[in-house]
Amino acid sequence: MSELKRQVTKAIFPVAGLGTRFLPATKSVPKEIMTLVDRPLIQYAIDEARAAGITEFIFVTSRGKNALEDYFDHAPQLEDSLEKSGKHELLESLKSTNMESGAIAYIRQHKPMGLGHAVWCARRLIGDEPFAVILPDDVISAEKPCLQQMVEAYQETGGSMVATMQVPKEKASSYGILDVESEIGSLVSVRGMVEKPKVADAPSNLAVIGRYILTPDVLETLNRQKSGAGGEIQLTDAIAEEMDAKRKVYALKFEGQRFDCGSKAGFLQATVSFALAREELQDEFAAYLRDISPLIRAA
Ligand code: G1P
Repeated sequence: MSELKRQVTKAIFPVAGLGTRFLPATKSVPKEIMTLVDRPLIQYAIDEARAAGITEFIFVTSRGKNALEDYFDHAPQLEDSLEKSGKHELLESLKSTNMESGAIAYIRQHKPMGLGHAVWCARRLIGDEPFAVILPDDVISAEKPCLQQMVEAYQETGGSMVATMQVPKEKASSYGILDVESEIGSLVSVRGMVEKPKVADAPSNLAVIGRYILTPDVLETLNRQKSGAGGEIQLTDAIAEEMDAKRKVYALKFEGQRFDCGSKAGFLQATVSFALAREELQDEFAAYLRDISPLIRAA
């Protein structure tokens, strides 16, 4: 594959999920707009994509996600009023949410048929180039953003690539799990992948985390993909089929900490961690946590 072909400039963000685990909040607020400190989940995903060189952002949405579209729109009145009142820092943070015209596209997934189907819905916008997929529920805090680590590794390897990390064996049935061919440092050569296996059937304790760099062949495979785990069309199954067709798939054990913001506990952990990392909150928030730690021990 030529160097040019290894540029990854498009990313798909599957955001059609109903977010039922966060009801009643998600009755009127898309899950991706829920905030860690003061930034919505989706902003973390977008910033990570931008840092990795992504310039085209494709959202696969569903009914009730209008707030997401508004979030990325310019807000001229608000910008004017912040400008006039000299609130430059706030203005800058507001502008960081603006998207260039034409850089962002929204596609509807009309039925909740799974992650593989959501990615397939964006096929016409991807065309014949490699692309990234980012699941905004998986928030990764890292010195070098996770997708950037993957893009750098992918420029060496080609093929397709997923992010991976070790999970406790008993949690295997919540993830796509890798069947490992070999490992060199943080790079894993993968020979198979199974979506949400029974604990006893899990081929390893390396789980797929929601970052992918995929070749366009995967879209072809998704074209004929039958439903898999949970009765849904699974992205994991399509990638596994790629391997059967002898196309190389790698996994990167990324550096960083992943928070499962699709669960309440993970969301709260991310909130605490991101709050402690913010200079303006650190002292007050850490003092509060120290104050309540005896209570935590007693709980
Ligand atoms: C999805 C993928 C799964 C992956 C997980 C990571 O599952 O299907 O392979 O391990 O994301 O968060 P979900 O969590 O949407 O059920």
